[in-house]
Amino acid sequence: MVYLKTDEEIELLRENNILVSQTLAEVGRHIKPGVTTKYLDSIAEDFIRSHGAIPSCLGYEGYPAATCISVNEQVVHGIPSDKVVIKEGDIVSVDLCTFMKGFNGDSAYTFAVGEIAPEVKKLLDVTKEALYKGTAQAKAGNRVGDISAAVQDYVQSFGYGVVRELEGHGLGRKMHEDPGVPNYGHRGRGRLLEEGMVICIEPMITMGSHSIVFERDGWTVRTRDRKPAAHFEFAVAVRKSGPDVLTDFSIIEQ
Ligand code: MF3
Ligand code: CO
Repeated sequence: MVYLKTDEEIELLRENNILVSQTLAEVGRHIKPGVTTKYLDSIAEDFIRSHGAIPSCLGYEGYPAATCISVNEQVVHGIPSDKVVIKEGDIVSVDLCTFMKGFNGDSAYTFAVGEIAPEVKKLLDVTKEALYKGTAQAKAGNRVGDISAAVQDYVQSFGYGVVRELEGHGLGRKMHEDPGVPNYGHRGRGRLLEEGMVICIEPMITMGSHSIVFERDGWTVRTRDRKPAAHFEFAVAVRKSGPDVLTDFSIIEQ
């Protein structure tokens, strides 16, 4: 079910998504060689709770942590662990959600740890740019397929893989609402985008084959060929005038 949001509801979603951006920035400040993903998760959880929100990933369908932290060949839904130690040259995707005032925030960012290989840096740059290419299509009157095709065409022009099994989604009182927003598809197809829809666009892009496997923990998704993957996600309100991005990556990047 698609729930169209009022202007007031969009502002509550924006408050959540700004808190998510601030939390990602706080986690990013703590990412350095030697720290564990479990430690980074505790930083995020404390930050979210101290700002009066709840980390809505925790307990979601039984998920055991406040954040998903996926390193290198892990694509998404990596479970924070005291056994996963960050090292120089890693890429670390942090995905987290908040809940306050009846609404959710949801965003992900892939961080580079120190100096990373130039081809991995390129993967991060292209994945983030693909998110912006998709976002540019998020205006009333377009269709979900316009977003999907914009992401896919851009990414594939660099020879990267688009993960098929997971997709973006509507965001509101529930973390996952309709419509699904795949990162591959055809222009002009799929659900009509309407004023007041709020969606998360989240390209999950692989350096090699797009083929993935689920780890035995039941959550972690990694590339089958163990080549690196990147994930950037943010929330966008669809307006007649065009996309209104509710998340603020500049908070993370400054
Ligand atoms: N941002 C993630 C998503 O949209 C949230 C995952 S929470 C989890 O899938 F609990 F499912 F891990
Ligand atoms: Co999401």
